[in-house]
Amino acid sequence: MITSTPQEPVRVDVHTGARTSTIWIGEGIADRIGPLLDAHKVGARRFIVSSPVIWRLHGAQIRDAMGGGEPILIPDGERFKNLQSVSKIYEALIRAGADRGSAVVAVGGGVIGDTAGFAAATYLRGITLAHVPTTLLAQVDSSVGGKVGVNHALGKNLIGAFHQPAVVVIDPLLLRTLPRREFRSGLYEVVKYGMIASRELFDRVAGSTKAIFARDPAVLGPAIEESCRIKAEVVSQDEREGGLRRILNFGHTVGHALEAITKYRRFRHGEAIAYGMLAAADLAVARGALADGERQALARLIAQLGPLPPLADLPIPDVMDAMRRDKKVVNGRLHFVIAIAIGATATVEDVTEEELRAALVRLGLQRS
Ligand SMILES: NC(=O)c1ccc[n+]([C@@H]2O[C@H](COP(=O)([O-])OP(=O)(O)OC[C@H]3O[C@@H](n4cnc5c(N)ncnc54)[C@H](O)[C@@H]3O)[C@@H](O)[C@H]2O)c1
Ligand SMILES: [Zn+2]
Repeated sequence: MITSTPQEPVRVDVHTGARTSTIWIGEGIADRIGPLLDAHKVGARRFIVSSPVIWRLHGAQIRDAMGGGEPILIPDGERFKNLQSVSKIYEALIRAGADRGSAVVAVGGGVIGDTAGFAAATYLRGITLAHVPTTLLAQVDSSVGGKVGVNHALGKNLIGAFHQPAVVVIDPLLLRTLPRREFRSGLYEVVKYGMIASRELFDRVAGSTKAIFARDPAVLGPAIEESCRIKAEVVSQDEREGGLRRILNFGHTVGHALEAITKYRRFRHGEAIAYGMLAAADLAVARGALADGERQALARLIAQLGPLPPLADLPIPDVMDAMRRDKKVVNGRLHFVIAIAIGATATVEDVTEEELRAALVRLGLQRS
């Protein structure tokens, strides 16, 4: 039993050119969604978008907190993050007569948030959006920063927009029902924030892994808050990924490639990023930018969080091809985020394929 008294909700603001978006983080705050949305003047009419799984688990609570309302349910899973689901949302909005004063409230993980967010960004050229993220990944990453979008049959996240949510309501208690592997996937993104900006956060995850896995809100809440603060700060300075925002991609160059060559079936996103961070740290050590002790600390923490799917059967040439196709290659040069210490990164533009290949060999992938 966890008996600690809930902390007061914490507020984090994300300032971007177009608007300020406010993140509220607090244990039990999901019970107060209605008044929070009122306070931020979110839509005269609110349309909830969720999935059957999430709605079965948390629908009654959310409905009570919002004073009723039938949700628009779209099926769960990455393969439904597409224009057909967006179309389904449009249809429900049109049939219900949603107008410019209406709002979309996305209740779910990153798939629901990205899809519902894209519908909100484009319906009537954009209506108000609020997020109630229900996965750890969505609470620390996808609901913050305003990127929304869907996949195309020819590639992931190819269709999208920037649409800042008016409000994000983050309740760590919603994570109690999240399967452990999904939870862990989000935790690797928390580790990423530690690596790019906060040794303290990194140490907190390492030092309280047990309480975190027990979903103790007293420990989890502050880790989520710190992650959101880091992302909010980066996004406030660079909404459209002109430069600084790239540091959020630490571990993602290799990570995305691993996901792509296994057709998004083998790794949860965070698991691929865990490998990507190991590769990026290894590369940094090899070029003398990072002390080996720091790389080892990262490797220890990742091992401590649990097993990762195997990758020894994956051929390095496939990974290299996938990286070349990735959006992060600009004018033929690879922008690569390397760690220079736990809590500090640098973007380098002179990473060679040889260096990358060597890091992948040491990570244990197949040479050919
Ligand atoms: N917009 C961004 O900036 C951004 C950033 C990172 C990732 N993303 C996107 O996020 C998506 C991944 O998001 P995700 O990891 O949240 O996956 P997800 O949305 O697929 O959710 C994972 C699973 O957890 C279930 N689930 C959700 N909440 C639950 C709860 N409280 N209890 C029990 N089960 C629950 C869902 O039904 C689903 O099966 C990807 O499509 C990725 O591209 C977007
Ligand atoms: Zn990520």
